[in-house]
Amino acid sequence: MVMGGKSALQQSAERHLWMNFSQLGYYARGKKLPVMVRGEGCYVWDEHGKRYLDGLSSLFCVNIGHGRADVAQAGADQGKQLEYFPTWSAAHPPAIRLAERIASLAPGDLNRVFFTSGGSESVDSAIKLARQYHRVTGNALKTKIIARDIAYHGTTMGALALTGIDSIKEPFAPLLPGGIHVPNTSVYRLPPDRTADSLAEAVKRRIEIEGPDTVAAVILEPVQTAGGCYMPPPGYFARVREICDEHNVLMISDEVICAWGRLGEWFGCERFGYIPDIITTAKGLTSAYAPMGAVIARDAVAEPFLNGDTSFLHGFTFAGHPMSAAIALANIDVFEREDLLDHVRHNQDGFRAMLESLRDIPIVGDVRGTGYFHAVELVRDQDTKEPFSPEDQVSLLGYLSDELQERGLIFRADDRGGPVVQLAPPLIAGPAQFNEMEELLRPVLHKASELFPHAR
Ligand SMILES: Cc1ncc(COP(=O)(O)O)c(C=O)c1O
Repeated sequence: MVMGGKSALQQSAERHLWMNFSQLGYYARGKKLPVMVRGEGCYVWDEHGKRYLDGLSSLFCVNIGHGRADVAQAGADQGKQLEYFPTWSAAHPPAIRLAERIASLAPGDLNRVFFTSGGSESVDSAIKLARQYHRVTGNALKTKIIARDIAYHGTTMGALALTGIDSIKEPFAPLLPGGIHVPNTSVYRLPPDRTADSLAEAVKRRIEIEGPDTVAAVILEPVQTAGGCYMPPPGYFARVREICDEHNVLMISDEVICAWGRLGEWFGCERFGYIPDIITTAKGLTSAYAPMGAVIARDAVAEPFLNGDTSFLHGFTFAGHPMSAAIALANIDVFEREDLLDHVRHNQDGFRAMLESLRDIPIVGDVRGTGYFHAVELVRDQDTKEPFSPEDQVSLLGYLSDELQERGLIFRADDRGGPVVQLAPPLIAGPAQFNEMEELLRPVLHKASELFPHAR
């Protein structure tokens, strides 16, 4: 029923549901909350029957696409057999099989899998694993973790300390000590005193300033999400790997988004040819058909916990939940059956070409990313890269969000660096969806370039 222009569900949500990262007052001022009721393939439908192209895999997670009844059924079937048992000093077949399957897909000797319920829990678990690993190997002072500016690593208090976005940290200070930040790889906006080659050296310098005997780990995403798909310059990860090895610092690859085909590989580190000590993941592990995350550790990191009586003193009730694990296995079956990694590798250039074609719009400054993970940065001046003023940036992103929602495109408007339109479609997307994205984006970006003063 629709009352006052808002449906019963919208009204109930406004009264009772605390939406994440949302200004609740926004809806009180008349904005309408989209209420999604159905999904199929690359599309979702709201309660009024309006169709949206899901250009973001919802939240970088529905990698196999929506509406796969067989994947949901795998969870239901497991629920009928054994709906739950912990993986605390016990186990069950779905968690065992999934751990073995993940180990078989992960690069190098990343063979040990610790399950969590999501990305932030994975990052918190990796922080604790890195600290306890160093403690049990005789380096108890190694507690600090180096992350990168503007990077998003999650919202739990540990993960938040590594997140490099001040605005979402400040309300919760004091944070866990030991989260330290170095420059990210925003090569589009390198300060004049910095070169792409110096970015890995900044990690080295920071370790040396802090004191190598106090640094436990460096955490990096293969492609940094926040700020808009910051790509690593050539050789960056190989050099960071060397620096970590020189200083007995663990390298954590935060692949909450970049694993599970997003970059055309099982794991994002494979796209750039490095092997981390720990991978943190979630999202595409189940394609979000159930909540689940994982920490994957190299044999050498697990080794001190295998002998004697040392336990990793950490765990979650829902870690390795049987229904989530069954769904993750069914999800991986879909990847293999439909060869989704190959599909991404074959179609990523078409996706990129569509975005590159938008450069004729005067406010399109940069197009960057890889695989099915791209960002378009908007600028006042294409030649000088002059950014919009902070006020214009807020209005511009607000305009784009409203217009594209109205036209039925789900994307992410990111404001942590410059204003960015971020797209990460389900891995089943192809030329038809890329064309549709362009048809939705082009007129809106054109209109935005008329509304917001720019240099041409
Ligand atoms: C790189 C990265 N790490 C951690 C997280 C936190 O994951 P979650 O929202 O599942 O807690 C995210 C979420 O988007 C992420 O992108």
